[in-house]
Amino acid sequence: MDNRPIGMFDSGVGGLTVYREIKKKLPNEQIIYLGDTKEFPYGSKSKQNIIELTKNNIEFLLEYDVKLIIIACGTATSQALKEVRKIYKVPIIGIIDPTVNYIKQNKQYKNIGIMATRGTIKSNTWEKSLKNAIPDVKIYNKECPLLAPMAEEGWVDNEIAKLTIKEYIKYFPKLDALILGCTHYPLFEKIIKEYMPDTDIINTGKVIASFLENNIEKAELSKNMQDHIYLTDMECNFITVANKILNSPVEIKDVEVK
Ligand code: DGL
Repeated sequence: MDNRPIGMFDSGVGGLTVYREIKKKLPNEQIIYLGDTKEFPYGSKSKQNIIELTKNNIEFLLEYDVKLIIIACGTATSQALKEVRKIYKVPIIGIIDPTVNYIKQNKQYKNIGIMATRGTIKSNTWEKSLKNAIPDVKIYNKECPLLAPMAEEGWVDNEIAKLTIKEYIKYFPKLDALILGCTHYPLFEKIIKEYMPDTDIINTGKVIASFLENNIEKAELSKNMQDHIYLTDMECNFITVANKILNSPVEIKDVEVK
């Protein structure tokens, strides 16, 4: 048993799609969540900038004696995971490797699409990892810079969301699977599925939750266990969207991350 909390972060509400799946599978785990709303969006920032922000977020979470850190952000995973793993001793898990391993071990996909932020697509990390694991796979990359800001606004099921998704996915040929390579995108999963009914839609949060279930030393049930959500800027729509994602009111605190 390891009752220390799990730390996780994202630029905003997107990481809560990972949080939600972890809570379903591992309800005894205490989670400390950091939304770096002051620096949102991560998807349009330089690699160097993302590495610095990721280091700051990790150092904030380390103050809570976390047993591991989940980078619940595709952009930070693709651009900073390798660097920060060299610096910190705490286990750090991103959203890419567990997903690639899951696909390699369980699926026979030939054509995989990836939707992600501009920074993630530019890094080419998904494509490199997938081709490394499955040499004959064909990858189709599509950057979708409008989706994370729309998700932060809670615009995930209106007409604008439908038109925007339609515009982005028209790029893809017939796919076996579509990876939602940004943690904000599972919020649009219903619409995407309507447009692509025959394609497997991969929500990385679900994969991470199963990965943790099989790979971590778990916490025991505790009545006093309470999750904490911290934001680096409260002047945002986080609370409204978070309440919808988590289906219950959440307590949120303001912090400064240096
Ligand atoms: N949720 C993030 C990701 O997975 C970040 C989106 C953003 O801040 O641009 O990439």
